[in-house]
Amino acid sequence: MPAFDEPRFLAGLLWALALSGAAAAAALFVRPAPYGRHTRAGFGPRIPARTAWIVMESPAVVVFAAAYAAGTHARSLLPLSFAALWLLHYAHRSFVYPIVTYRPGQRPTPLLVVLLGFSFNVVNAYANARFVSQYVVYDGADLVRPTLYLGVFLFSCGFSINRWADGVLRRLRAEGKGYQIPRGGLFELVSCPNYLGEIVEWVGFALATRSPAAWVFAFFTACNLAPRARAHHRWYRRTFPDYPPGRRALVPYCW
Ligand SMILES: NC(=O)c1ccc[n+]([C@@H]2O[C@H](COP(=O)([O-])OP(=O)(O)OC[C@H]3O[C@@H](n4cnc5c(N)ncnc54)[C@H](OP(=O)(O)O)[C@@H]3O)[C@@H](O)[C@H]2O)c1
Repeated sequence: MPAFDEPRFLAGLLWALALSGAAAAAALFVRPAPYGRHTRAGFGPRIPARTAWIVMESPAVVVFAAAYAAGTHARSLLPLSFAALWLLHYAHRSFVYPIVTYRPGQRPTPLLVVLLGFSFNVVNAYANARFVSQYVVYDGADLVRPTLYLGVFLFSCGFSINRWADGVLRRLRAEGKGYQIPRGGLFELVSCPNYLGEIVEWVGFALATRSPAAWVFAFFTACNLAPRARAHHRWYRRTFPDYPPGRRALVPYCW
């Protein structure tokens, strides 16, 4: 039996992820993913939103940690730093975000969305961990590459923007008045600074790590969140007649 050719397997996986990201974007520009304010009937059974987030996102912690540990660079400083950035984001997204965002009466999430998110996170975490701890070629020039510092800077900015914007929305929700127009900071420029932050974060991660898996993930994130930002933006405009007219969907002053 031929030996398992992991680099070839990973290359196929990344192509499949990139193509499914493009296909998802095409579909999501027509109909947004059916969770949150875009929930609608016809997507089968649903489970509580808090459980849904934890089930969907936790492979990004568990699978990443296991696949990372198997790599030959797992104990080197730079890969360890990249793993720390990844785990910082995903420990929050998988276990803190669903708990702090929880509120009684939260809309349940279709099981189909959960299964798709879960499968994506298994594959994506495996591919990213294997590249960071095994297949990225590290050399003596790593610490003098400007893209390392630019990438970490972008990751930090994106992470902060995402956390801040999710916090603003959470506090609005906690007021118990339903959906409101978010105001202040980047919300004056775009409807979805949380999505903008998330995309910037993963572009930064890709720049810093030089990992093909990270670039595919950044692309997939944009494919997923750009259509959702447009759907949110249109929804805000339909719902609030006084919605600020100069505000864009995702990219300040542009789109
Ligand atoms: N990497 C990826 O591909 C990916 C994919 C999806 C999500 N994410 C990240 O996951 C996080 C959550 O995503 P999401 O799609 O659920 O974000 P979202 O639609 O902006 O909703 C976030 C939370 O805020 C509430 N909310 C939103 N707008 C509100 C408003 N105007 N007034 C009051 N409450 C409001 C929502 O309530 P409702 O649920 O009732 O609408 C929900 O609890 C974001 O940080 C996003 O970047 C990442």
